[in-house]
Amino acid sequence: MNIDLIKKQTGIIGESEEINEVLETVSQIAGVDISVLVNGESGTGKELIAKAIHAASKRSNNDLVIVNCGAIPEGIIESELFGHKKGAYTDASESRKGYFETANKGTIFLDEIGDMPLETQVKVLRVLESGEYMRVGDSNLKKTDTRVVAATNKDLAKLVKEGKFRQDLYYRLKTVTINIPSLRHRKGDIRLLVERFALQFTRTNKIKYKGFTPEAIKVIQRFDWPGNVRELRNFVESILTLEKGERITAEIVEKQLRDEKVVEFSDNPALPVVVNQHPDQAERELILRQLLFLRQDIEELKLILKDSDFSILNSSKNINENFANKIHNDGFGDLEDNSLIKEQAIGNFKTSDLDKEMIIRTLEHFNNNRRAAAKSLGMSERTLYRKINDYGIEKKINKDS
Ligand SMILES: Nc1ncnc2c1ncn2[C@@H]1O[C@H](COP(=O)(O)OP(=O)(O)O)[C@@H](O)[C@H]1O
Ligand SMILES: [Mg+2]
Repeated sequence: MNIDLIKKQTGIIGESEEINEVLETVSQIAGVDISVLVNGESGTGKELIAKAIHAASKRSNNDLVIVNCGAIPEGIIESELFGHKKGAYTDASESRKGYFETANKGTIFLDEIGDMPLETQVKVLRVLESGEYMRVGDSNLKKTDTRVVAATNKDLAKLVKEGKFRQDLYYRLKTVTINIPSLRHRKGDIRLLVERFALQFTRTNKIKYKGFTPEAIKVIQRFDWPGNVRELRNFVESILTLEKGERITAEIVEKQLRDEKVVEFSDNPALPVVVNQHPDQAERELILRQLLFLRQDIEELKLILKDSDFSILNSSKNINENFANKIHNDGFGDLEDNSLIKEQAIGNFKTSDLDKEMIIRTLEHFNNNRRAAAKSLGMSERTLYRKINDYGIEKKINKDS
């Protein structure tokens, strides 16, 4: 199944490279009968992806059984998964089918698998390896032909290290892993998500819909959405409920973000929206970013001064053009020692320290995605690569992670 069809069939919305890559993987592995691990923060669409895998597989005519392992009490999870025999418990007056039996020939989605008790994990591993299991209280082996899609928002490797997740099950599951990027790392999807959610919601609830202004969308894109698509959807729906029939403007969105999420807005649109951070930390980030901009201004001045060395009589238009070309070719590169302005110091920081700090933080923020980091820093990828080398950042990041 191609990815457009998957989107249509499962209602997955998105046009970013990131989501398309995820769906590309889905379409490649759906038809192959192997288990899949879906990784992603809460609200990124793990369940939707599981549905897509099932829908695009040969098993789509049979059941997809969804099990939230985190929500089932430890005492009954095995009976839920594998069923039980009459009399297995004092109140087990009837035998009961488990989910693996219901999902025979179909797919089982084990959500929050990181929360599954260790003893249960052994039994799931056995099903994965041989299809065999036993109902609770029964000694007869049963067989099932079920494809397993598991999901987690936890770092399973870490849980394995801590002894909270079985290594053998982890290795078995992770062979095919699909990582769904957080919404803040694919902001390109936000516009489409907002528009589709708004349309669906207003249609279902017979609310007049006049759309979001482009500025309103931009404000939404500046927010980081820690609850990902689920949070965005709720936000869109609550705003449309509160502002029935209105065209949604940037002001409305800002007010709602301020009220709901305690977000501060600054007048400078280049500044990020700061959320979910300790105020001191947030302030530090803002100051750092301001200093970085200041530094970039200094670099610009250096370039202009350097140009005017050679062509003092040039019209300012030409200088600007040269400048624009330079930026275009190389971002805000460093100048060598022959520039008129020597290494700048702001307070106790050297500008290069600030630059380095900013790059490290931005890379961390984007999980080391250099393209995203470069874009956010306003420099070319090439410049970022060079700086990573010059500052020896690579070693630091790899060491820390
Ligand atoms: N790409 C997407 N397109 C449309 N809806 C999405 C998308 N991703 C998530 N959603 C919606 O967001 C909510 C959370 O998705 P879900 O799959 O339950 O996330 P998770 O299991 O990762 O917490 C659901 O309402 C889902 O339909
Ligand atoms: Mg979920």
